[in-house]
Amino acid sequence: MLHFLTRVKIGLLVFMQIIHLSDTHFGNHQPAFDLQKLRDAMNSLSDLFEKPDTYLVVSGDITFQGNSNGYIQARRFFDDTWLVNQRARNRFLACPGNHDICANSFQNFDTFLYGIRRNHDTDFSNRPHGLVKFDNIAFLMVNSASHLNHKYGLIDFQSLKTYLEIEKNYLDSVEHRIAVVHHHLIGFQENDTSTIRNALPFIALLDKFEFHLILHGHQHSQISLQLGKSKMAIFSARSLNYRTSSLVNGINILSYEKNAWNCDPRVLSADNSMINGPSLSKIG
Ligand SMILES: [Fe+2]
Repeated sequence: MLHFLTRVKIGLLVFMQIIHLSDTHFGNHQPAFDLQKLRDAMNSLSDLFEKPDTYLVVSGDITFQGNSNGYIQARRFFDDTWLVNQRARNRFLACPGNHDICANSFQNFDTFLYGIRRNHDTDFSNRPHGLVKFDNIAFLMVNSASHLNHKYGLIDFQSLKTYLEIEKNYLDSVEHRIAVVHHHLIGFQENDTSTIRNALPFIALLDKFEFHLILHGHQHSQISLQLGKSKMAIFSARSLNYRTSSLVNGINILSYEKNAWNCDPRVLSADNSMINGPSLSKIG
């Protein structure tokens, strides 16, 4: 049985929550898990889906190597999970990653996102970033692959700076400012050349506008950092369905508790014996 493994949290009052997926890589010819089992595992979290203050965020690489069929599979997956029982379409948010560059454009990504959200608020074909606005929470969705180079991330910095200055009044009016981007911000290993090349000014800009949280993916790894004067929490989610010999697949559940964003990482595994460490336990 495919299941999530999680740390057990007892007795905490939790309000706003974000289910963070990344690098789902639908359309991958050698997935780690059978899709039906993956749907069942996702739906084991359906009690979270029902809550009006829960958001589902996917930080890029929805498909695999620009394969447009991956979006058909992805759409079916989210139809059968997040969207069951008419859950809020507008609380599904996604930005593109390098694998979402299809025929040198993001049109297929936009079509996928429109299929779920039923609006064009977050189209990326003609712009590198945009805000998804709620009354008390702002999601800045950033396309770090907008330069159409598969090999590394880059922020359209001047455009983003101008945009945030224009939106300053709105940003000041909300309690939570959250940025979502695909590529990672800090180099991962010796031969890693795929970071956001201009990550430092990007981080400084988000810090200046007092963003509290940055969510990203790309490295299929669990990463937790805290940066800047505003002590931004930065979390990377794992991949969702990517076959390797290690535990790379899973999701993060982020909760805003005691004036801070906390991350509850959940590892997806078909084999419980692969898990080490007392902080993980089986659910579902
Ligand atoms: Fe990526």
